[in-house]
Amino acid sequence: MNARIKLLRSSTFRLAALYLVLFALSVSALLGYVYWNTAVLLERQTDETIRAEVQALADQYRLRGLNGIIDTVRRRSADDGGAVYLLTSPSGERIAGNLDNLPSASRGEASWIEFPLNVEKGRLRENHVARAFHTQLAGGFDLLVGRDVEALRQFATIIRQTIFYALAIALVLGLGGGLLMSRNFLRRVDAITEASRTIMAGNMAGRMPVAGSNDELDRLALALNEMLEQIESLMAGMREVSSNVAHDLKTPLTRIKARVEAALRSGRSEDYRQALENTVDESDRLLETFNALLSIARAEAGQARQGLAVIDASTIIADVVDLYEPMAEEAGGQLTSDAAAGLMVLADRQLLAQALSNLVDNALKYGATEGATPEIRVSGAIEGENVVISVADRGPGIAAEDRGRVTERFVRLDASRSKPGNGLGLSLVSGVMKLHKGSLVLDDNAPGLVARLVLPLNAVQAKG
Ligand SMILES: Nc1ncnc2c1ncn2[C@@H]1O[C@H](COP(=O)(O)OP(=O)(O)OP(=O)(O)O)[C@@H](O)[C@H]1O
Ligand SMILES: [Mg+2]
Repeated sequence: MNARIKLLRSSTFRLAALYLVLFALSVSALLGYVYWNTAVLLERQTDETIRAEVQALADQYRLRGLNGIIDTVRRRSADDGGAVYLLTSPSGERIAGNLDNLPSASRGEASWIEFPLNVEKGRLRENHVARAFHTQLAGGFDLLVGRDVEALRQFATIIRQTIFYALAIALVLGLGGGLLMSRNFLRRVDAITEASRTIMAGNMAGRMPVAGSNDELDRLALALNEMLEQIESLMAGMREVSSNVAHDLKTPLTRIKARVEAALRSGRSEDYRQALENTVDESDRLLETFNALLSIARAEAGQARQGLAVIDASTIIADVVDLYEPMAEEAGGQLTSDAAAGLMVLADRQLLAQALSNLVDNALKYGATEGATPEIRVSGAIEGENVVISVADRGPGIAAEDRGRVTERFVRLDASRSKPGNGLGLSLVSGVMKLHKGSLVLDDNAPGLVARLVLPLNAVQAKG
């Protein structure tokens, strides 16, 4: 019962019903037109023929008198064409014609009448319907001219029945089709509803059913599935971050606690001071780590995409190079850059600068072999559809098998343990690239590492 009400209230069914009504209306109009053009017109034609004949006979009576009309009526009654004639005297006796007497339906004045007619066909007698015009001539004579309209009436009946059945069949088929269609549609909507319930109940791996017909429901299911995919990977990312955070913050926090406890135990004010200073340093590092993690999470979630603007990446390159040049010189190395102007990208200026800084920072830290000075080259160019910003050094580089995992959070290679760092720099870079629909590509600079930021070129350039 419930299911039936649901079916009748579904939008597909209502649509089908609407179409059904329109369809029925047009079918009726079409059949009505056919009916009008056949049965009704034929009947009218018959009436006109009868009227013309009455007129002609009346004229004849006027011109040639009683004998004239008797003659004609007799002659015409003789052919067996379904015509009916009767001429009676004022006293009601038959003078001429193929009817025995005036039908009881006649009312004496000029009028149309219909009456039953017995027709002999061989030995069979059939009851037909006749339609006639009854008029009175001068002198009290009655004239009746008519036709056997049985065939016409049957024809009209057949057409009416055909119309009725055609309409009935159209209605039944349309109704059935509508019900079938909406049942099918409802079943699929129910499946989608069911799937979303199980997903809400915690089964994040669940997906919407796809029928494979690529219709609008399928496209909706596919879009929802894509969204679920995204949500699932975001949730996995969050889980990973929180376990990473828990794991990696435990060590510094334990360290802080141990130092503070040791200072308290010693009771010396100098140790207190030392412990507090250490705690401040350690907290700074912790804050830095937190901020980096938050930036990565934000970039990866794509939350900042609304804030993107078309900017010239060459200005960012210039800023970052300005910032790091003194540090490179301090380390006795050099930082050179060559960037073409007009590297238009849709980007978040601050995040992109942060990403580039992380790469330059890495090159400064790891980009020189033991005893040598760093030699870093930052460049920017348009390559096909992309803007490519690269940072190249001449250090030990990263082995091909490690290039995939160094972008994961907290991953640091063994060779770098002696240098400060959290292993979050490249994660942020790759998160920022994801946000910008670009990619981070690590390559061998032979020797050294070349890190490339590949961003889609924004063809809609600023004026000028
Ligand atoms: N230019 C490079 N040359 C050689 N190894 C590199 C280079 N850049 C990164 N690496 C390796 O990749 C690891 C991950 O780098 P990432 O920038 O993510 O972390 P980090 O520099 O160790 O710490 P953080 O950037 O958070 O301070 C580094 O620890 C280092 O082992
Ligand atoms: Mg780094």
